[in-house]
Amino acid sequence: MSDKKLSSSNTVWHHATITRDKREQLHQHKSIVLWFTGLSGSGKSTLAHALEDRLHKTGCSTYVLDGDNVRHGLCGDLTFSDADRKENIRRIANVGKLFLDAGVIILTAFISPFREDRQIARNLMQHGDFFEIYCNSSIETCEQRDVKGLYKKARQGAIPHFTGISSPYEAPENPDIEIKTDQLSLEDSVELLIQHLKQRGILQ
Ligand code: ADX
Repeated sequence: MSDKKLSSSNTVWHHATITRDKREQLHQHKSIVLWFTGLSGSGKSTLAHALEDRLHKTGCSTYVLDGDNVRHGLCGDLTFSDADRKENIRRIANVGKLFLDAGVIILTAFISPFREDRQIARNLMQHGDFFEIYCNSSIETCEQRDVKGLYKKARQGAIPHFTGISSPYEAPENPDIEIKTDQLSLEDSVELLIQHLKQRGILQ
């Protein structure tokens, strides 16, 4: 889809009576987009779901958008070409923005390999609404684990444009937080994130 046409013709924005502020008051916490990025197998989904579990238990309204799942529906028409990955991230960023308005803590777990696309996602939100979490695990570790068996297939040439092998991953230069997922345990990673969110006033 073209970048230029971002709204349909002959449509007028309807302002809701129930605002984000009111929804945040109801939920008793701020909404935010927690944007996990990293190689396939770097632990994005695992960490996002573990953090969601922790937040949910303390009464937060949360939702995880996961790359593999979203590519079964909303983004099921997209391939892994650069252009389709861009469109994937554009859609997710816009869904994230809707969830923000719904007063929800949204956790997105997509490779989101391109800096420019992550920046576009960030720019779509107000300052402070987008929190980039870099799940930093070396390609060697991801490939060694190969939980889904995809690295092996990619090395055999069976999966084209595979991130880290035949398609680039542009690591964040200035993430809001970096988690060395190949060195930290899952529990410690969740704890680190919770402390960070508290320091930033997102959680109490
Ligand atoms: S993104 O690049 O567009 O952000 P996304 O996070 O939605 O990717 O999907 C990544 C998941 O799709 C991976 O975890 C993996 O399971 C699967 N996958 C299938 N083909 C590829 C590929 N060519 N490159 C990376 N991941 C792929």
